Amino acid sequence: MTVHEIRKVCVVGAGTMGAQIAQQVALAGYPVSLFSRSQERLDAAVKSNARLLAKRVEKGKLDAADSEAALSRVSTTTDLAEAARDVDMVIESVAEERDTKRHICQQLDAATSPTAIIASNSSTMASSFFADCISHDERLLNVHFFNPALVMQLVEVVRGPHTSDEVVDTCMDFVRRIGKTPVLVAKETYGFIANRILFIAMQEAFGLVEEGYVSMEDADLAVKNGLNWPMGPFELADLVGLDVTEDILSQGHLQTGEERWKPTAILTGHTTRGELGRKTGKGFYEYARVGP
Ligand code: 3HC
Repeated sequence: MTVHEIRKVCVVGAGTMGAQIAQQVALAGYPVSLFSRSQERLDAAVKSNARLLAKRVEKGKLDAADSEAALSRVSTTTDLAEAARDVDMVIESVAEERDTKRHICQQLDAATSPTAIIASNSSTMASSFFADCISHDERLLNVHFFNPALVMQLVEVVRGPHTSDEVVDTCMDFVRRIGKTPVLVAKETYGFIANRILFIAMQEAFGLVEEGYVSMEDADLAVKNGLNWPMGPFELADLVGLDVTEDILSQGHLQTGEERWKPTAILTGHTTRGELGRKTGKGFYEYARVGP
């Protein structure tokens, strides 16, 4: 299948990532069916996307009619088979739980045509984790977005040992079509490229603070002013979510066996107290307003 044959896309999971991925795809002109088990989550996704596009309209960055059209291209449903029917590509973005993702893949296998591309947005699981759930696994790979997906330019296209060249090429083209910059990860490795660099750098920052070399605030200032990152590592962990950060590190530890990935007390202290970053109003920092 070439990119010209992609006519409709399904996004599975309406959390922060799934919601914005669906909207980005719709902004590029594709009809998108957005699935979640929870109607409440779907409603929140629609509301949040409407708010984000309204800001673009206010700032003169998006035409009001184009915004309306892009919002109306996203349809929502709590029925996975309905969401996946007649689509040419599925982007799976559900919680980072292996059994959940495997179950979703089995359902997608039954609900999609054997040529529909199945792309996982997982940051901790390469598509090999699900290859036995998908018949015609040459259509399976990772297509990994960054948070916030409506803003961040990078999308990693990760080839699995099973993925066909054609599917890789089509996904690279698709990412360009939706206005993003793809990089090809030629073979599966834990964390792919950007997360592997980012989360090990975060571990360095956490260690320096934990060992008393610098305060959290100064570590963030150092990285922002010395390296020109838009956010320091502690601010960024709060944006990504401390639960997600811990999960990426724990999985890195588990999957590579390397100590450098092991989450330390500075992070787990917060997660055990339910302080998960911006989304709960408190993480390393406190936030006046809960939400993205
Ligand atoms: N959702 C959607 N859009 C958002 C947003 C959010 N949560 N936060 C900000 N934006 C938009 C704003 O509306 C604004 O849009 P505009 O340019 O159309 O007006 C634009 O982003 C810039 O926002 P602001 O002017 O308010 O603020 P900043 O200039 O400080 O930018 C930022 C905010 C884009 C979040 C910037 O600080 C940044 O790039 N931070 C680093 C983010 C990053 O590194 N992400 C990767 C994390 S790792 C990851 O995602 C991997 C995964 O596997 C965990």
